[in-house]
Amino acid sequence: MFRFSYVNRILIIFFGAVVAGLVLKTAMIPESFGKYGHYRADWLSEGTQLPSIYQGKFVCQECHNEIFQTHEKDVHVSVECENCHGNGKKHVDFHKKVASASVDTSADMTASGGIKDQAKMHILKDNQTCLYCHRQLKARPKYFPQIDPDAHFELLKVKDKNTTCFSCHSPHEPLFLVKKVSESRVHPTINECKSCHDESVSEPRPENHPTIFECKYCHKGLIDDFKAKKHKFLNCTSCHNVYRISESSGYIFKNGNPKFCLMCHEDKNIVDSTKVPVIKQKEHYEMMGATPDMRCFDCHGAEKIHDISKNPFYSAGKASDTDKIEKQLQTPASHGAEIKNEQK
Ligand code: HEC
Ligand code: HEC
Ligand code: HEC
Ligand code: HEC
Ligand code: HEC
Ligand code: HEC
Ligand code: HEC
Ligand code: HEC
Ligand code: HEC
Repeated sequence: MFRFSYVNRILIIFFGAVVAGLVLKTAMIPESFGKYGHYRADWLSEGTQLPSIYQGKFVCQECHNEIFQTHEKDVHVSVECENCHGNGKKHVDFHKKVASASVDTSADMTASGGIKDQAKMHILKDNQTCLYCHRQLKARPKYFPQIDPDAHFELLKVKDKNTTCFSCHSPHEPLFLVKKVSESRVHPTINECKSCHDESVSEPRPENHPTIFECKYCHKGLIDDFKAKKHKFLNCTSCHNVYRISESSGYIFKNGNPKFCLMCHEDKNIVDSTKVPVIKQKEHYEMMGATPDMRCFDCHGAEKIHDISKNPFYSAGKASDTDKIEKQLQTPASHGAEIKNEQK
């Protein structure tokens, strides 16, 4: 005879465990679970009660309006302040309390390591701050502006590899645009060979080549003129940078801000002055009898950069953004310049 009673004992333990599990599960499922979906519905209201760690740029605007406005105008408009400065919770709480005088900032508050110190935002003046987003990587989409620092410095004739990005770019307005990004003209942007080709390719293109929009199709006269100038080593998009808004279009800037030219031409001992002619703006303007509201392009445009009257769309009198530039010139010097002075 076979005896199976030992199986019964195992089965009893097994079903006992299952029943206990079910009872426990029913007891432990929160009341509002499953109301809207496979989650606890009460979390929706509880979650919104938690203090927000990231504040968003409009909170920063309340106290840093000037920086906010500059930042809002330039190409970093889509970059949050807290991407570079870290989360602002402690900082905003602290300064709001100070503003409402409910915090005593004297004595131990100001001591190192005290509340005030803890409320400080991060400021990294390291090149990694920028390269974190802009270092050239295969994994990045090709249209995103990215640089290889060595190649960038070589193009710009920078002498020392340890030069900081901030000595030229301001983090809050990297290109010193005169107008808001969104006020520039929308262009078709499939124009660079590298947007489609991995390796460098050269002309001639095969007959069945997909249509690509190059500057020369529409700005012909101006391009021929540019070819005879000293800046011909640059791409058109080096000065007229592109801000993508879709796969095939983007804003192209017409940027006559002197601060832009000065990124390459300012005499601050960064670039090799045997290869880039450098000036000190103040002295140069005095020597040339220029008024502060004048742009470099007003004197050097047609002869040294390119002659916009050769642009097929040119209509005399409309080319200048001088009024807006004037306002720009009255704003304080770029952060880049400030940092440079510190280094000296
Ligand atoms: C309630 C006003 C207020 C708000 C809101 C505020 N700040 Fe500040 N912030 C200040 C004050 C005041 C200082 C100057 C502190 C000093 O000099 O001791 C400051 C200084 C800074 C500094 C310099 C470093 C430091 O902490 O001293 C940075 C960077 C900064 N703020 C970034 C931000 C960012 C980013 C935001 C948005 C998340 C923000 N702030 C929101 C008042 C504010
Ligand atoms: C791309 C990175 C980056 C972004 C984005 C950024 N900052 Fe800064 N910020 C810096 C760096 C780097 C410095 C230090 C440079 C200097 O001393 O001028 C700085 C300095 C500051 C300072 C203190 C120095 C000063 O000029 O008063 C304040 C305040 C500040 N930032 C606020 C903001 C606010 C507000 C925003 C968003 C509207 C913002 N920052 C966005 C990188 C950034
Ligand atoms: C959090 C990511 C981030 C950081 C950090 C950052 N940037 Fe940017 N940067 C962007 C984005 C996004 C754009 C706009 C890209 C576009 O054209 O669509 C941009 C655009 C630019 C451009 C214009 C490129 C062009 O051709 O339109 C320059 C120049 C630039 N950044 C310089 C800097 C510098 C200098 C720093 C360091 C202070 C810095 N960036 C830090 C995200 C970042
Ligand atoms: C000597 C001044 C100078 C220094 C230093 C400098 N830049 Fe630039 N940068 C420029 C100028 C001028 C341009 C516009 C011409 C161009 O696009 O090549 C530019 C363009 C850029 C662009 C846009 C490139 C593109 O293809 O659209 C990025 C991104 C950038 N810089 C990031 C950086 C970073 C990151 C650093 C620090 C490692 C840095 N720059 C250091 C002057 C400088
Ligand atoms: C919109 C994407 C796109 C852009 C931008 C583009 N190409 Fe091409 N290119 C292609 C495609 C797709 C082919 C393959 C065509 C075929 O073989 O039918 C090709 C083929 C070529 C070829 C034939 C040799 C080869 O590698 O297959 C040359 C040469 C070439 N392209 C040059 C250029 C140059 C120079 C530029 C910049 C001025 C450029 N292309 C920009 C998409 C593009
Ligand atoms: C499909 C035709 C076309 C192509 C391709 C083209 N453009 Fe334009 N561009 C125009 C037109 C049209 C205008 C408007 C003319 C005007 O308002 O005077 C314009 C205006 C401009 C302006 C002035 C923008 C402003 O805000 O006033 C600049 C700068 C410019 N283009 C640069 C370029 C560069 C650089 C390239 C190549 C990367 C390029 N364009 C390619 C048609 C084109
Ligand atoms: C060294 C910098 C630089 C380079 C490189 C450059 N430009 Fe310009 N371009 C400028 C400046 C500065 C202006 C005047 C901006 C203003 O009026 O505010 C301008 C104006 C323009 C305009 C507007 C003309 C108008 O009617 O208002 C067009 C179009 C243009 N450039 C196209 C090009 C093309 C195409 C190339 C390449 C062949 C090129 N640029 C290369 C600096 C440059
Ligand atoms: C990316 C860096 C860069 C930018 C941006 C740039 N330049 Fe230049 N520029 C140079 C270099 C390099 C030379 C010298 C080229 C040579 O001698 O072959 C030069 C030459 C010049 C010259 C002397 C030209 C001659 O024919 O003797 C003038 C004037 C000048 N630039 C003005 C400007 C103005 C104005 C702007 C702004 C609209 C500007 N540059 C923007 C790099 C730049
Ligand atoms: C009032 C007109 C005027 C203004 C504004 C002006 N310049 Fe000049 N600049 C001149 C003259 C004139 C010369 C000497 C003759 C020449 O090389 O064209 C000169 C020479 C230069 C040179 C030296 C060229 C060489 O071959 O050595 C550079 C670089 C230069 N300027 C850059 C700039 C920059 C950048 C700005 C804007 C910040 C600017 N200039 C604003 C009139 C002006």
